[in-house]
Amino acid sequence: MLVSATEMLQKAKAGKYAVGQFNINNLEWTKAVLLTAEENRSPVILGVSEGAGKYMTGFKTVAAMVRAMMEELNITVPVALHLDHGSYEGAYRAMEAGFSSVMFDVSHYPIDENIEKTKEIIAKAHAEGISVEAEVGAIGGEEDGVVGNGEVADPDECKMIADLGVDMLAAGIGNIHGKYPANWAGLNFDVLAKIQEKTGTMPLVLHGGTGIPAEMIQEAISLGVSKINVNTECQLSFAEATRKYIEAGKDLEGKGFDPRKLLAPGFEAIKATVKEKMELFGSINKA
Ligand code: 13P
Repeated sequence: MLVSATEMLQKAKAGKYAVGQFNINNLEWTKAVLLTAEENRSPVILGVSEGAGKYMTGFKTVAAMVRAMMEELNITVPVALHLDHGSYEGAYRAMEAGFSSVMFDVSHYPIDENIEKTKEIIAKAHAEGISVEAEVGAIGGEEDGVVGNGEVADPDECKMIADLGVDMLAAGIGNIHGKYPANWAGLNFDVLAKIQEKTGTMPLVLHGGTGIPAEMIQEAISLGVSKINVNTECQLSFAEATRKYIEAGKDLEGKGFDPRKLLAPGFEAIKATVKEKMELFGSINKA
Protein backbone atom coordinates (compact mmCIF):
# COMPACT_ATOMS: atom_id res chain seq x y z
CA MET A 1 0.00 0.00 0.00
CA LEU A 2 1.19 3.50 -0.78
CA VAL A 3 1.65 5.77 2.22
CA SER A 4 2.10 9.51 2.56
CA ALA A 5 5.65 10.69 3.18
CA THR A 6 4.83 12.28 6.54
CA GLU A 7 5.50 9.45 8.97
CA MET A 8 8.61 8.10 7.23
CA LEU A 9 10.13 11.60 7.15
CA GLN A 10 9.30 12.40 10.76
CA LYS A 11 11.02 9.13 11.76
CA ALA A 12 14.00 10.02 9.56
CA LYS A 13 14.28 13.49 11.08
CA ALA A 14 14.15 12.07 14.61
CA GLY A 15 16.59 9.28 13.73
CA LYS A 16 19.04 11.58 11.87
CA TYR A 17 18.97 9.88 8.49
CA ALA A 18 17.32 10.77 5.18
CA VAL A 19 14.87 8.98 2.89
CA GLY A 20 15.77 9.08 -0.80
CA GLN A 21 13.36 10.37 -3.41
CA PHE A 22 14.29 8.63 -6.65
CA ASN A 23 12.60 9.98 -9.78
CA ILE A 24 11.06 7.37 -12.04
CA ASN A 25 10.68 7.41 -15.83
CA ASN A 26 9.26 4.06 -16.85
CA LEU A 27 8.61 0.48 -15.75
CA GLU A 28 12.30 -0.45 -15.43
CA TRP A 29 13.01 2.57 -13.21
CA THR A 30 10.04 1.87 -10.96
CA LYS A 31 10.88 -1.82 -10.60
CA ALA A 32 14.56 -1.06 -9.90
CA VAL A 33 13.76 1.45 -7.14
CA LEU A 34 11.03 -0.66 -5.51
CA LEU A 35 13.14 -3.85 -5.49
CA THR A 36 16.19 -2.06 -4.09
CA ALA A 37 14.11 -0.53 -1.30
CA GLU A 38 12.61 -3.92 -0.43
CA GLU A 39 15.97 -5.75 -0.54
CA ASN A 40 17.50 -3.17 1.78
CA ARG A 41 14.45 -2.69 4.03
CA SER A 42 14.46 1.03 3.28
CA PRO A 43 11.51 3.42 3.10
CA VAL A 44 11.45 5.14 -0.29
CA ILE A 45 9.79 7.95 -2.21
CA LEU A 46 9.12 7.58 -5.93
CA GLY A 47 9.36 11.03 -7.51
CA VAL A 48 7.42 11.85 -10.68
CA SER A 49 7.88 15.19 -12.42
CA GLU A 50 5.05 16.53 -14.55
CA GLY A 51 7.18 15.83 -17.63
CA ALA A 52 7.84 12.21 -16.60
CA GLY A 53 4.15 11.80 -15.77
CA LYS A 54 3.23 12.97 -19.27
CA TYR A 55 5.87 10.67 -20.79
CA MET A 56 4.30 7.70 -18.99
CA THR A 57 0.93 8.78 -20.54
CA GLY A 58 -0.44 10.45 -17.40
CA PHE A 59 -0.59 10.34 -13.60
CA LYS A 60 -3.36 7.70 -13.64
CA THR A 61 -1.10 5.28 -15.52
CA VAL A 62 1.74 5.95 -13.08
CA ALA A 63 -0.39 5.47 -9.97
CA ALA A 64 -1.96 2.26 -11.34
CA MET A 65 1.44 0.87 -12.37
CA VAL A 66 3.05 1.59 -9.01
CA ARG A 67 0.16 0.12 -7.02
CA ALA A 68 -0.02 -3.03 -9.15
CA MET A 69 3.75 -3.48 -9.15
CA MET A 70 3.93 -3.21 -5.38
CA GLU A 71 1.31 -5.93 -5.09
CA GLU A 72 2.90 -8.23 -7.68
CA LEU A 73 6.39 -7.80 -6.18
CA ASN A 74 5.16 -8.08 -2.57
CA ILE A 75 6.71 -4.77 -1.57
CA THR A 76 6.28 -4.33 2.18
CA VAL A 77 8.48 -1.30 2.94
CA PRO A 78 6.81 2.15 3.14
CA VAL A 79 6.55 3.70 -0.34
CA ALA A 80 5.26 7.19 -1.15
CA LEU A 81 4.33 8.21 -4.69
CA HIS A 82 5.22 11.88 -4.88
CA LEU A 83 4.64 14.58 -7.48
CA ASP A 84 7.93 16.43 -7.99
CA HIS A 85 7.77 20.20 -8.70
CA GLY A 86 4.03 20.18 -9.20
CA SER A 87 2.12 23.15 -10.58
CA TYR A 88 -1.22 24.12 -9.02
CA GLU A 89 -3.20 22.17 -11.65
CA GLY A 90 -0.67 19.32 -11.62
CA ALA A 91 -1.00 18.89 -7.85
CA TYR A 92 -4.77 18.53 -8.18
CA ARG A 93 -4.46 16.05 -11.04
CA ALA A 94 -1.89 13.94 -9.15
CA MET A 95 -4.05 13.85 -6.02
CA GLU A 96 -7.05 12.79 -8.06
CA ALA A 97 -5.01 10.07 -9.77
CA GLY A 98 -4.02 8.54 -6.43
CA PHE A 99 -0.58 9.98 -5.59
CA SER A 100 0.13 9.82 -1.86
CA SER A 101 2.30 12.95 -1.72
CA VAL A 102 2.69 16.15 -3.74
CA MET A 103 5.20 18.92 -4.03
CA PHE A 104 3.58 22.23 -4.78
CA ASP A 105 6.29 24.31 -6.40
CA VAL A 106 5.16 27.86 -5.91
CA SER A 107 8.59 29.36 -5.78
CA HIS A 108 7.81 31.56 -8.80
CA TYR A 109 4.69 33.22 -7.26
CA PRO A 110 4.88 36.29 -5.03
CA ILE A 111 4.86 35.28 -1.34
CA ASP A 112 1.18 36.23 -0.63
CA GLU A 113 -0.10 34.19 -3.54
CA ASN A 114 2.27 31.40 -2.55
CA ILE A 115 0.70 31.30 0.92
CA GLU A 116 -2.90 31.30 -0.32
CA LYS A 117 -2.36 28.57 -2.90
CA THR A 118 -0.29 26.44 -0.50
CA LYS A 119 -3.04 26.65 2.16
CA GLU A 120 -5.62 25.51 -0.36
CA ILE A 121 -3.54 22.54 -1.53
CA ILE A 122 -2.77 21.54 2.09
CA ALA A 123 -6.47 21.53 3.01
CA LYS A 124 -7.37 19.23 0.13
CA ALA A 125 -4.33 16.98 0.58
CA HIS A 126 -4.67 16.54 4.33
CA ALA A 127 -8.37 15.73 4.04
CA GLU A 128 -7.25 12.74 1.95
CA GLY A 129 -4.14 11.73 3.94
CA ILE A 130 -1.75 13.07 1.29
CA SER A 131 1.49 14.80 2.31
CA VAL A 132 2.61 18.16 0.93
CA GLU A 133 6.07 19.55 0.18
CA ALA A 134 6.55 23.26 -0.37
CA GLU A 135 9.59 25.09 -1.61
CA VAL A 136 11.19 28.34 -0.55
CA GLY A 137 14.02 29.83 -2.61
CA ALA A 138 14.17 28.29 -6.07
CA ILE A 139 16.37 25.27 -6.66
CA GLY A 140 18.86 26.14 -9.39
CA GLY A 141 19.30 24.46 -12.74
CA GLU A 142 16.72 22.87 -15.00
CA GLU A 143 14.61 19.78 -14.54
CA ASP A 144 12.05 18.76 -17.11
CA GLY A 145 11.58 22.35 -18.20
CA VAL A 146 11.27 23.71 -14.64
CA VAL A 147 14.03 26.30 -14.39
CA GLY A 148 15.28 27.87 -11.16
CA ASN A 149 18.01 30.38 -10.42
CA GLY A 150 19.42 28.72 -7.32
CA GLU A 151 18.35 31.32 -4.76
CA VAL A 152 19.22 30.78 -1.13
CA ALA A 153 16.05 30.62 0.97
CA ASP A 154 15.16 33.22 3.59
CA PRO A 155 14.83 31.41 6.98
CA ASP A 156 11.92 33.68 8.05
CA GLU A 157 10.03 32.88 4.87
CA CYS A 158 10.72 29.17 5.55
CA LYS A 159 9.13 29.51 8.97
CA MET A 160 6.10 31.24 7.50
CA ILE A 161 5.54 28.43 4.97
CA ALA A 162 6.30 25.70 7.53
CA ASP A 163 3.66 27.20 9.85
CA LEU A 164 1.01 26.74 7.17
CA GLY A 165 1.17 23.03 7.97
CA VAL A 166 3.24 21.57 5.13
CA ASP A 167 4.74 18.16 5.87
CA MET A 168 8.20 18.82 4.41
CA LEU A 169 10.01 21.89 3.25
CA ALA A 170 12.46 22.23 0.38
CA ALA A 171 14.76 25.18 0.96
CA GLY A 172 17.27 26.39 -1.58
CA ILE A 173 20.75 26.41 -0.04
CA GLY A 174 22.85 26.67 -3.21
CA ASN A 175 21.78 23.25 -4.51
CA ILE A 176 20.99 22.78 -8.19
CA HIS A 177 19.42 20.11 -10.38
CA GLY A 178 21.70 18.17 -12.71
CA LYS A 179 25.49 18.05 -12.60
CA TYR A 180 27.26 20.65 -10.43
CA PRO A 181 29.64 23.00 -12.26
CA ALA A 182 33.36 22.79 -11.37
CA ASN A 183 33.19 26.23 -9.70
CA TRP A 184 30.16 25.41 -7.51
CA ALA A 185 30.36 27.17 -4.14
CA GLY A 186 28.88 24.20 -2.22
CA LEU A 187 25.87 24.06 0.11
CA ASN A 188 25.24 27.00 2.41
CA PHE A 189 25.25 25.30 5.84
CA ASP A 190 24.90 28.59 7.77
CA VAL A 191 21.56 29.21 6.12
CA LEU A 192 20.53 25.56 6.58
CA ALA A 193 21.31 25.79 10.32
CA LYS A 194 19.16 28.95 10.58
CA ILE A 195 16.29 27.30 8.69
CA GLN A 196 16.44 24.27 10.98
CA GLU A 197 16.48 26.56 14.04
CA LYS A 198 13.35 28.37 12.81
CA THR A 199 11.42 25.33 11.58
CA GLY A 200 12.17 22.88 14.43
CA THR A 201 11.00 19.35 13.72
CA MET A 202 9.92 20.05 10.12
CA PRO A 203 11.60 17.52 7.77
CA LEU A 204 13.78 19.51 5.34
CA VAL A 205 14.27 18.45 1.72
CA LEU A 206 17.46 18.66 -0.30
CA HIS A 207 16.86 18.73 -4.05
CA GLY A 208 19.64 18.20 -6.57
CA GLY A 209 21.14 15.18 -4.79
CA THR A 210 23.22 14.20 -7.83
CA GLY A 211 26.91 14.89 -7.38
CA ILE A 212 26.82 16.36 -3.86
CA PRO A 213 29.92 15.02 -2.04
CA ALA A 214 29.29 12.48 0.76
CA GLU A 215 30.57 14.79 3.55
CA MET A 216 28.16 17.53 2.47
CA ILE A 217 25.27 15.06 2.43
CA GLN A 218 26.16 13.94 5.95
CA GLU A 219 26.43 17.49 7.23
CA ALA A 220 23.08 18.37 5.62
CA ILE A 221 21.45 15.39 7.36
CA SER A 222 22.96 16.44 10.69
CA LEU A 223 21.30 19.87 10.16
CA GLY A 224 17.80 18.49 9.63
CA VAL A 225 17.62 17.30 6.02
CA SER A 226 15.50 14.14 6.00
CA LYS A 227 14.56 13.78 2.32
CA ILE A 228 17.11 13.89 -0.51
CA ASN A 229 16.07 13.93 -4.18
CA VAL A 230 18.10 12.05 -6.77
CA ASN A 231 17.27 12.01 -10.45
CA THR A 232 20.16 12.72 -12.84
CA GLU A 233 22.52 10.21 -11.21
CA CYS A 234 20.24 7.25 -12.01
CA GLN A 235 19.88 8.54 -15.57
CA LEU A 236 23.66 8.74 -15.98
CA SER A 237 24.16 5.21 -14.56
CA PHE A 238 21.45 3.82 -16.83
CA ALA A 239 22.89 5.54 -19.91
CA GLU A 240 26.47 4.45 -19.20
CA ALA A 241 25.56 0.79 -18.69
CA THR A 242 23.37 0.76 -21.80
CA ARG A 243 26.11 2.41 -23.88
CA LYS A 244 28.66 -0.18 -22.74
CA TYR A 245 26.31 -3.03 -23.69
CA ILE A 246 25.77 -1.64 -27.17
CA GLU A 247 29.38 -0.60 -27.72
CA ALA A 248 30.45 -4.14 -26.81
CA GLY A 249 28.12 -5.34 -29.60
CA LYS A 250 26.07 -7.43 -27.15
CA ASP A 251 22.81 -6.46 -28.82
CA LEU A 252 24.08 -8.23 -31.93
CA GLU A 253 24.92 -11.50 -30.17
CA GLY A 254 22.14 -14.10 -30.12
CA LYS A 255 18.93 -12.42 -28.92
CA GLY A 256 20.81 -9.57 -27.25
CA PHE A 257 18.42 -7.14 -28.94
CA ASP A 258 15.51 -8.42 -26.83
CA PRO A 259 14.50 -5.37 -24.73
CA ARG A 260 14.52 -7.53 -21.61
CA LYS A 261 18.24 -8.14 -22.27
CA LEU A 262 19.09 -4.74 -23.75
CA LEU A 263 17.65 -2.85 -20.77
CA ALA A 264 18.98 -5.24 -18.10
CA PRO A 265 22.43 -3.63 -17.55
CA GLY A 266 20.82 -0.19 -17.18
CA PHE A 267 18.28 -1.63 -14.75
CA GLU A 268 21.06 -3.17 -12.64
CA ALA A 269 22.98 0.12 -12.76
CA ILE A 270 19.97 2.03 -11.38
CA LYS A 271 19.69 -0.54 -8.59
CA ALA A 272 23.37 -0.09 -7.70
CA THR A 273 23.06 3.72 -7.64
CA VAL A 274 19.91 3.61 -5.50
CA LYS A 275 21.56 1.21 -3.03
CA GLU A 276 24.66 3.39 -2.79
CA LYS A 277 22.48 6.44 -2.02
CA MET A 278 20.42 4.56 0.56
CA GLU A 279 23.67 3.58 2.32
CA LEU A 280 24.90 7.18 2.25
CA PHE A 281 21.55 8.55 3.47
CA GLY A 282 21.39 5.97 6.29
CA SER A 283 17.91 4.65 5.39
CA ILE A 284 18.85 0.96 5.12
CA ASN A 285 16.98 -1.26 7.62
CA LYS A 286 14.80 1.68 8.67
CA ALA A 287 11.59 0.30 7.12
P1 13P B 1 19.18 15.78 -9.53
O1 13P B 1 18.70 15.48 -10.89
O2 13P B 1 20.25 16.82 -9.52
O3 13P B 1 19.58 14.55 -8.79
O4 13P B 1 17.97 16.46 -8.73
C1 13P B 1 16.81 15.71 -8.47
C2 13P B 1 15.74 16.53 -7.84
O5 13P B 1 15.99 17.42 -7.05
C3 13P B 1 14.35 16.21 -8.16
O6 13P B 1 13.47 17.18 -7.71
